[in-house]
Amino acid sequence: MRISISSKIITSLFLLLISTQLIIAGGNPVRSKNGMVVTASPLASDIGAKILSQGGNAIDAAVAVGFALAVTYPIAGNIGGGGFMVIHLADGTNTTLDFRETAPLAAFEKMYLDSSGNYAPENSQLGWKSAGVPGTVHGLITALNKYGSMQLKEVIQPAIDLAENGFILTYDIANSINAYYDDFMKYESSKKIFTNNGKKFLEGDLFIQKDLANTLKLIRDKGIDGFYKKEIAEKFVAESQKNRGIFTLKDFEDYKTIEREPIIGSYRGYKIVSMAPPSSGGICLVQALNVLENFNFTKDEWGSSRYYHLLVETLKRVYADRSFHLGDPDFYPVPVGFLTSKKYGSNIANLITDKALPSNRISATNLKYHESEETTHYSVADKYGNAVSTTYTINSAFGNRIIVEGLGFLLNNEMDDFSSKPGAPNQFGLIGSAANSIQPKKRMLSSMTPTIVLKDDKPFMVIGSPGGSTIITQVLQTIQNVIDFGMNLYDAIAVPRIHHQWLPDEINYENHGLSEDVKRNMTERGHIIGSIKSLGRMEGILIDIKKNVFYGTSDPRGYGKATGY
Ligand code: GLY
Repeated sequence: MRISISSKIITSLFLLLISTQLIIAGGNPVRSKNGMVVTASPLASDIGAKILSQGGNAIDAAVAVGFALAVTYPIAGNIGGGGFMVIHLADGTNTTLDFRETAPLAAFEKMYLDSSGNYAPENSQLGWKSAGVPGTVHGLITALNKYGSMQLKEVIQPAIDLAENGFILTYDIANSINAYYDDFMKYESSKKIFTNNGKKFLEGDLFIQKDLANTLKLIRDKGIDGFYKKEIAEKFVAESQKNRGIFTLKDFEDYKTIEREPIIGSYRGYKIVSMAPPSSGGICLVQALNVLENFNFTKDEWGSSRYYHLLVETLKRVYADRSFHLGDPDFYPVPVGFLTSKKYGSNIANLITDKALPSNRISATNLKYHESEETTHYSVADKYGNAVSTTYTINSAFGNRIIVEGLGFLLNNEMDDFSSKPGAPNQFGLIGSAANSIQPKKRMLSSMTPTIVLKDDKPFMVIGSPGGSTIITQVLQTIQNVIDFGMNLYDAIAVPRIHHQWLPDEINYENHGLSEDVKRNMTERGHIIGSIKSLGRMEGILIDIKKNVFYGTSDPRGYGKATGY
């Protein structure tokens, strides 16, 4: 994490603990007949499944889960952040809701540069100025109003009850909170909630969030206006002003969820439905699949140096394009059709040889993306034929660690997903990252890749992951693990993954993910082997329409649950 040196160390230790877990494949997914909810939090999954069992549809369950995770999975679940929802409806409609945060009206391009013009990351990651206008509440209620079948009061109540009456902290949740103890102690409002009267929490403690319960009740009773026009916005803006933030009531009044056409692609006969910009996820996923479709893989080739070579060479080109071309489409003309065309995919495939092409020979700017790896994904499918794939985030783990006093929820630090210092023209005259420069009301580029794979136009996989810039490669590999390598859902999610994002020019890999042989072969081809890293936490569903079975798997790297109904 980039919040402070101490938290960097704690986070590294925390991630190391996760990354050294032995991920054992060969397991079975959870099965059910009427629907499935898979989230990073067992309590939230159970709430979603209960909504399905009460006759609710996948959208009702997804909205209930979105509010529940804000209570039970505070590391990333939220009402103070934003995200994306990809929806497939039983009538065949595919659509998406963009409830990404926006830059406040007072934001400006150079707001995170110091007096010498250098990018000062702490400014975009810490404090009130690191937050964008929250979109989650708007997005969830819009989804419910448009595509749900239940009342807001019905789907939000389970979250209110858990916040009001508390829930017992598991080892994992207590640990995740305690990992950021030093940061929480810095803010009185955060100390009040995320420490036990100044002490660390213990497994088994009851975790009550009264302020959050009251905020959720206001949302229940007053809907979108309760958050964006009335009490909550007013308190939020007052707190911002007290803390030298830049939010105004107009930021909240102007906030809108945007319904966008999904990115649609195909891979070996399956249809891919994923998120459009301002997420890079859908375009990059489809672009990569379009390249990889030009190569055949046998089922036994998973983990081989040939597969990883082709995957890495594909990813380098995809991430270079991401850097040049992607940003908020309402502010920048993103060449969606070109990047996602089969022709461009096969052109790239034709350029791939047996040897690695160094990243510095692929058109590039010098900019690196600084994306947080904390976010959360959840997948829902119902018996009616609807499916919902949602990824939402407050960016870093626990956002910028600041609880809004009196409102009980964490502020995001999503402004860090903008390119704070857009590059000068490169040798080809391309302006790297201007696409993602800061402008008032603009949405920062994301890598979140909530995706639904259709077979014969019916939901086949519902999938997504946290992991910042690694999300795209994790979703890509999980889809390939099923379609190319014939794995069941559990194995497809559990087996180790790798990651390359063009810059830095190195392959990250998970524990046990690259054998010595494969490393040697990859090095001979010219690849640079980087470090071991935990890569993503998938929450996925696979549906066998013929047998009418829903399979669910929560990534064994995390501590979530697949709850069937
Ligand atoms: N904040 C991580 C992402 O949006 O990709």
